[in-house]
Amino acid sequence: MTSLQLAACAALAFCLAPAAGAQGSSVTSPDGRTVVSLAVTDGQLRWSVARDGRPVVMPSRLGFTFRHASALGDSLRLADSMRSEFDERFTMPLGEVATVRDQHRELRVKVVETTAAAREFWVTVRVFDDGLGFRYELPAQPNLKDFEIMDELTEFSMAEDMKAWWIPANISTPDRQEMLFSSGHISKLDLVQTPLTLVGTSGLHVVIHEANLVDYAGMALQGRSESRTLKTSLARWKDGSAVKGRTPFVTPWRTLQLADGAEQLVPSVLGLKLNPPSRIADTHWIRPMKYDGIWWGMHVNTMTWSSGALHGATTANTKAYIDFAAANGLGGTLVEGWNLGWDTNWMLHGDGFSFTQPYPDYDLAGLAAYARAKKVSLIVHNETGSFVENYERQIDSAYALYQRLGVTAIKTGYVGDTTNPGGHAHQGQYMVRHHRRVIETAASRGISVVMHEPIKDTGERRTWPNMISREGARGQEYNAWGGEGGNPPEHETILFFTRMLSGPLDFTPGIFNLLVSRSGTNVPRTPVDARPRTTLAKQLALYVVLYSPVQMTADLIENYAGQPAFQFIRDVAVDWDTTRVLHGRIGDDVVVARKTKGKDEWFVGAITDEEARTVDVSLDFLPKGRRYVAEVYADGPKANWRDNPLPVSITSRPVDGSTRLRIAMAAGGGQAIRIRPAR
Ligand code: NOJ
Ligand code: CA
Repeated sequence: MTSLQLAACAALAFCLAPAAGAQGSSVTSPDGRTVVSLAVTDGQLRWSVARDGRPVVMPSRLGFTFRHASALGDSLRLADSMRSEFDERFTMPLGEVATVRDQHRELRVKVVETTAAAREFWVTVRVFDDGLGFRYELPAQPNLKDFEIMDELTEFSMAEDMKAWWIPANISTPDRQEMLFSSGHISKLDLVQTPLTLVGTSGLHVVIHEANLVDYAGMALQGRSESRTLKTSLARWKDGSAVKGRTPFVTPWRTLQLADGAEQLVPSVLGLKLNPPSRIADTHWIRPMKYDGIWWGMHVNTMTWSSGALHGATTANTKAYIDFAAANGLGGTLVEGWNLGWDTNWMLHGDGFSFTQPYPDYDLAGLAAYARAKKVSLIVHNETGSFVENYERQIDSAYALYQRLGVTAIKTGYVGDTTNPGGHAHQGQYMVRHHRRVIETAASRGISVVMHEPIKDTGERRTWPNMISREGARGQEYNAWGGEGGNPPEHETILFFTRMLSGPLDFTPGIFNLLVSRSGTNVPRTPVDARPRTTLAKQLALYVVLYSPVQMTADLIENYAGQPAFQFIRDVAVDWDTTRVLHGRIGDDVVVARKTKGKDEWFVGAITDEEARTVDVSLDFLPKGRRYVAEVYADGPKANWRDNPLPVSITSRPVDGSTRLRIAMAAGGGQAIRIRPAR
């Protein structure tokens, strides 16, 4: 395209349709605002997007390079196209919304090489009112059978040098999604992860991500100095290739969420619409729940995963946590460090982990029965240390054992990385396949999975609702580790508009002893750099703000004794009919309201960064003519995250749909509100 044609784009909705001499086709969203075009110019296929007549994505390359075969992307022509429309609703057994409307228009374009090889593929585009997805489909054909993709050529040439909220990709440290977000313009980006949230000067928000990642490598985005183009960069196998496959083959969807402002980004269900329907017919055993656990003690050094005097996972300790769960309406108890393998440096020797053999002081079968009798799920922890083959050898026997014991939930973990013998790139094809195997095997045994150090979420919970939650972010644990490790007060106000757009997060909120100091051998903490940098009210608000159908009460159970604010955790729901963002600015503050699934009850969570802020919100989401009571857990007098995080003031007031609430939050603070019918 010439620069004249590009300039003309600014005025024309169909500006991105092919230039003279080129071939092309477009598809428009149901609301008519978004137009996606595919066009071949000089043998190269490009896609582009316009919204409200203005370009969002300029013509951007598509195609592949292969090992042992020529590139597919330089001598192409459009051979055929097909269109369809779709409008259907589906329900989610667990979710931030109960019902999703999938209304889209689809364009499928057949692309054929003009060379003798005449290899062909289809590009399928689906355009929704809130975004779009496109993917490649490679049919079975004589000249493209087994293949190794070295590079996917897909580019995102953004029309504007938007501001990005990003974390780096492919850094060879353990748990490489566990990083703090930065912001900066596209033209300054190196290699970044998705979801990548982009903000334009007009207020347009674009989120680049992917959906239905089943048998492919995870996508990162490579920036180019002083360019607005981001190029797909796939995680690699150790032999250097990215994807090994055989036709017929489909890639994951490359997705663009489009919103007029930050507040319209959530709830984000685009990815769910681009995954196949549930493969689990009867989902009653998949339980949303709050859970306690033998966990924080290991992070603050009052307990150990390994055997010895401080071993956390003893039968007696576990019974106490199960009792606490039962007494407080929590659905589960997580136990870490129950199994053999923790006594060495397991990050280097994770192949010593057994997933069936408990330590002698842990009565696995007895505790599973004890928990069951108290209607509490024992959540069995499987840390692999990223020695994945060791885990895969045991998956079948371990899950069979758990099923026999009546265990219905596990937490997996992949500390470590490619540098381990047998380790694989966290976002690479091997691990993508591995996580699918875990989810499907677990489903066949009636087991739900919470993954830590996972592959990123691409909406697979629609197909496999037993994939209930995952980490894949810097969670609460970083607040225990001290030094530079703690999360700054703005962290969760960024997560909400970035990482959370991919799916539920097992952040593990609920630390009440916010002045905790490490009692173990590690560097002693100072009040500033080595504890959660939030007020207590903000810890409560995180249950509402950071969606997950499983939410931990992460602190040691003794720290909840005599704490009136614990009532909020008892009350708060984890499964929702609807979600509404009442106010939000990335990196500053968020106020979100969620309606409890099947109940006339709402929760509001509000959080701020290091600044004290007051936000006015309307409760006009409450049904007209009905009276409610708001139970408000606010930052107490002089509260602030830095030197006075504990004061919480608990008050009640009548509210209805005409109420405007003034939500005052301390520095690093927040507010948690339950709204129930007036009695
Ligand atoms: C990291 C996980 O995020 C954390 O929850 C777990 O306790 C440790 N790994 C040990 O598995
Ligand atoms: Ca982690």
